[in-house]
Amino acid sequence: MEKHANFLVVGSGIAGLSFALRAAARGTVTIITKRAAEESSTNYAQGGIATVWSGEDSFESHIEDTHLAGAGICHEDTVELVVRNAPDCIRELIDWGVRFSRNKGEKDFDLGREGGHSQRRIFHAKDLTGREVEQALLARARENKKIRIFENHVAINLITRQKIESFDPSVADEVIGIYALDQDTGSVHTFTADATILATGGAGKVYLYTSNPDIATGDGIALAWRAGATIANMEFVQFHPTCLFHPHAKSFLISEAVRGEGAILVNREGKRFMVGQHPMAELAPRDIVARAIDTELKRTGADCVYLDITAKGAKFIKDRFPNIYKTCLSFGIDMTKAGLPVVPAAHYLCGGVRTNLWGETDVPRLFAIGECACTGLHGANRLASNSLLEALVFSDRALTRAVEAYKGRSPKKLAVPRWDSGKAQDSDEAVVVTQNWDELRRLMWNYVGIVRSEKRLSRALDRIELLKREIAEYYWNFKLTGDLLELRNLCTVAELIVRCAMQRKESRGLHTTIDYPHLDEENWRRDTTLRRRRI
Ligand code: SIN
Repeated sequence: MEKHANFLVVGSGIAGLSFALRAAARGTVTIITKRAAEESSTNYAQGGIATVWSGEDSFESHIEDTHLAGAGICHEDTVELVVRNAPDCIRELIDWGVRFSRNKGEKDFDLGREGGHSQRRIFHAKDLTGREVEQALLARARENKKIRIFENHVAINLITRQKIESFDPSVADEVIGIYALDQDTGSVHTFTADATILATGGAGKVYLYTSNPDIATGDGIALAWRAGATIANMEFVQFHPTCLFHPHAKSFLISEAVRGEGAILVNREGKRFMVGQHPMAELAPRDIVARAIDTELKRTGADCVYLDITAKGAKFIKDRFPNIYKTCLSFGIDMTKAGLPVVPAAHYLCGGVRTNLWGETDVPRLFAIGECACTGLHGANRLASNSLLEALVFSDRALTRAVEAYKGRSPKKLAVPRWDSGKAQDSDEAVVVTQNWDELRRLMWNYVGIVRSEKRLSRALDRIELLKREIAEYYWNFKLTGDLLELRNLCTVAELIVRCAMQRKESRGLHTTIDYPHLDEENWRRDTTLRRRRI
């Protein structure tokens, strides 16, 4: 059955939900999300949302910090737009019921500090900011009669006019909707809309070690790529410097706010190693801290370094970081008494689907917001706590443009064919999926990690080509499963990361290569982009 709404949103984190809540005042909204709705990256965000709030802070300072972290290639207009709209977004979240931490006496908000910020400007809900935001927004979305949420629905492909009417690339294309697999029943449904909004989050699962939840498989980026949208800056994968090093912790994130509150990094001899590397020491931007840890690990042969906040005292630690404290304790580590063993892990993708200042991609009726988008805000390295903020600002912008350009103007009525699974059979070798999944994540970690080389990138690309062929064969011959769709998307994202990394012949921000160890301002003070013919 075909389901139509004015706005079709893929993803149920802060970007998708804030879009839906605002859009419900302007029309009908369908959200499709591939697990339970709260299972988004937002839900796991610890740090917070950056905004200029205190009298000692200024927009100019937040703008400057964003540019410094971004290593010279943030887009000026995007940075201005996001930073100046931040306080209004925070007020809207408070109106939606988000409870941010306050100082004693409950009068002022407790503004946190994180790496790269020259001021305290992080709104947070202790160390569970994302969960607080997700719960508040989702509760409102569930109450809203204009919003329908389809859980356990994983997007297969965008439906485009060209695919339906002809494969003639000269025919003006536009997105009409999405085919999605209902993972409960195994059937494929057709969703159509006046405007389709990708809000699918990041792709940390493309690496062996990541702070991201299992849903972070780059779906929106792969969908947009297959539909012919431009993709940008995929080489800039942010590795969070401090994830818990423990065999069962699944790279549990230790928020940068811990360093913001005074934690120091020491090696296994107990020696601080960030002092002298950057004027902000442990509070340097993330790319610098992650690289320094990587170097320290390679130099000493140790498995991890240690993040020590014991000087702040047990009472402060338990009150400010209750979730981190409890989680570490469950692994037998008491952060009030000893340093936490930490290593870097993939955390955030600064690149994604290229959009303009309205969240529009270059395929008509298709928008991308949140981590799956590349708006120009983050440049070569995202400043901490600018990501939830970007999602909020761009969901508002995208709605304004979607209403103005498309709402109530459905795509020309087309008979959208039902999904045809042809002669696909039940898989007899599901091991192919798990094997390829593991192989891909390991090769990305080993060859396309914190420090790269031309040789490693080309090795990675050769292997990705092989995996692509195997996955395509499997895709056409066997019945679809969520795992297979995610693997197919991850493989696409891996290829896009490698191809962008191969373009950039310099080291900048999160992209470090031993073959081009310096900045090349003359040739590379710009984005990398990839464009594919539509298929
Ligand atoms: C953190 O709490 O360190 C993560 C915040 C972010 O990624 O911006």
